[in-house]
Amino acid sequence: MKLINLLAAAALMMGFAHTMAAQTPVYLDDSKSIEERVEDALSKMTLEEKIGIIHAQSKFSAPGVPRLGIPELWCTDGPMGVRPEVLWDEWEQASWTNDSCTAFPSLTCLAATWNTDMANLYGKSIGEEARFRNKAVLLGPGINIYRTPLCGRNFEYLGEDPYLSGKMATDYVKGVQDNGVAVCVKHFALNNNEINRHTSNPIVDDRTLYEIYLPAFKAAALDGGAWSFMGGYNLFRGEHASYNPILMNDILKGEWGWDGAVISDWGAVHDTETAVTGGLDMEFGSWTDGLSNGRSNAYDNYWLANPYLNGIKEGKFTEDELDDKVRRVLRLTFRTAMNRNRPWGSMVSDEHIAACRKIGGEGIVLLKNQNDLLPISPEKVKKIAVIGENAIKMMTVGGGSSSLKAAYEITPLEGIKKRFGKDFEIVYERGYVGDTLGEYNGVKTNQDLRDFRSVAELTDAAVKAAKDADIVLYFGGLNKADHNDAEDSDRLSMELPYGQDALIKALAKANKNLVVVNISGTGVAMPWADEVPAILQAWYLGNETGNAIADVLSGDVNPSGKLPYTYYADLMQCGAHKLGEYPGTPAKDKFGNDIFDMPYNEGIYVGYRFIDKNNLKPTFPFGHGLSYTTFKYGKASVDKAQGSKNDKFTVSVPVTNTGKRAGSEVVELYIHDSKASVDRPEKELKGFSKVFLQPGETKTVTFEITEPDLSFFDADKHAWVCEPGDFEALIGASSADIRSKAKFTVH
Ligand code: GLC
Repeated sequence: MKLINLLAAAALMMGFAHTMAAQTPVYLDDSKSIEERVEDALSKMTLEEKIGIIHAQSKFSAPGVPRLGIPELWCTDGPMGVRPEVLWDEWEQASWTNDSCTAFPSLTCLAATWNTDMANLYGKSIGEEARFRNKAVLLGPGINIYRTPLCGRNFEYLGEDPYLSGKMATDYVKGVQDNGVAVCVKHFALNNNEINRHTSNPIVDDRTLYEIYLPAFKAAALDGGAWSFMGGYNLFRGEHASYNPILMNDILKGEWGWDGAVISDWGAVHDTETAVTGGLDMEFGSWTDGLSNGRSNAYDNYWLANPYLNGIKEGKFTEDELDDKVRRVLRLTFRTAMNRNRPWGSMVSDEHIAACRKIGGEGIVLLKNQNDLLPISPEKVKKIAVIGENAIKMMTVGGGSSSLKAAYEITPLEGIKKRFGKDFEIVYERGYVGDTLGEYNGVKTNQDLRDFRSVAELTDAAVKAAKDADIVLYFGGLNKADHNDAEDSDRLSMELPYGQDALIKALAKANKNLVVVNISGTGVAMPWADEVPAILQAWYLGNETGNAIADVLSGDVNPSGKLPYTYYADLMQCGAHKLGEYPGTPAKDKFGNDIFDMPYNEGIYVGYRFIDKNNLKPTFPFGHGLSYTTFKYGKASVDKAQGSKNDKFTVSVPVTNTGKRAGSEVVELYIHDSKASVDRPEKELKGFSKVFLQPGETKTVTFEITEPDLSFFDADKHAWVCEPGDFEALIGASSADIRSKAKFTVH
């Protein structure tokens, strides 16, 4: 090409670039701050466009502003993997052929790792999958506190303790959002049960709210920097959570100064005025005419659509609230769909599969291991009997909106055959027949689990196989069927379903070398715990289920998980049932609709806080988990015997691996306030650290204690208060196994 042509081309490009530069509006100029871009875009939008951007146009998308080149905003479930694409206005999957995903372990498993590095790895991995699917908002993590073992969605959450939940949520949030994908932290707040989930009205005092039910959300919002929140279906003090002025305006956007967008749960909006003034920014999933789940013109009838537009035109509402909503939606859009520096993401990559297996293996909790029955080794056994439906049942499908179309799923039996098949004889017996469905919103497992044998036949066959084996691996628990760890249905009791207790007892009689692997996302009654020498709490582990479990059973992975919730012996050990009112008593909301008032009479005494207060002995305590090695804790010490509340107290404790095998130990820090003007729990978790140690190795674990760790929420002052006096730092291997204490005084 002649020089003259090159010069001409260059001049033309320069001219074009200059023209573009002159005409690039601020909101499209990513050299400008997001706030400048938000204001510029807002100033260019018509009233109709402002209304359009704050509500859905399809099941999972909002329209953006096509005229201005502001793209649609696409959301997707869920917290453990990216949901398959659904039809425009349906829950039904759209049968795409390229949206199979990595199903990561349930969030209770993540919490059970007590390892914030795993939380970040988890967030990064799932964020990459959401990014690859070009989603701007991932509808997770779910972080509601585990108030009752009956809650159908405990498996989607991070356990009973606000501090552990907040720490794990923070790094999950950062991992996801590093991909330019927003999290949508849910379900804010007090969505602690699924029964009557649209009409439950928790009645909670401020101290309980601020000490138990808000901290994890506050951490996700301010430490994690979450870009969106999802309001819950339930009410709080008479107003629906998704647009509750106290939760959204006073606390989230007021006291916390949070700048993100509040998205309703799907179908959680029931009127316009409160939605306008109650701090809701985006409306999704509404049932417009109250008679059907969506209609072709549904979206214009949304509470924040024409009714709101007409309300503004009639002077019922100013545009002030609308502009705040639009700013937050624009900010969310600029952080995600209009962020041109986002990475590209990936789907079912080797890294994601490795992450799935690693998090699963780190989250499995060894609850009991008498006579070192585990790990399985060729010197000890030759024949393995695998028993139970949960050894063969795929669990990635089902359970509600977190259901997934996993690229594949390795069942426990498949994992065991792969790991042990060459050195051991392996036999399998069903043991019991539970849930033979395998379908959710059109996604099918294609397993045919039908079995028409009687309970007696199934039991006899299982007991016979157990008798003939050197070791028995029983896989049972729950399975995400209704009432067994599923959205929109709580458990009906703590008991295992399908007659499993009787079967487990029969197996324990048949063979003393019985290992029970309980697969569930919530605590269950274990009346046979004393008769069973080894018990593993395995969670819903996703694609790599069988491999992660075999890794631990074989000792390839030394278990290091600890319980993120208490294993109550029965419901009377749980404050929500002993003192609280579950599932509530009939009442009316301000429109006269039926609701269920549910006073949280147990107050702050949730989980181990209630156990301690009442000197109870649960089946297994919060924070409990064993290893294939042993650890010795040295004497805890504190760097200063006394200091002011503005000082930092550093507690140190040496931990030694006194066994023959490398392993990780979660060291837990609890704070005890020796004397307070209010009733306080015996101890509260305020730190944890997972330390990896070679045999014989010692490391010193340190914790920094500051004023917030010592404070309680004074409802009268509406402020956190650290009272002077004596405190104790309790160093524990679990909430019931305090190994060392260090006293200090705040003056
Ligand atoms: C569901 C769930 C929520 C989910 C949303 C979209 O009802 O409560 O967690 O993200 O609707 O599926």
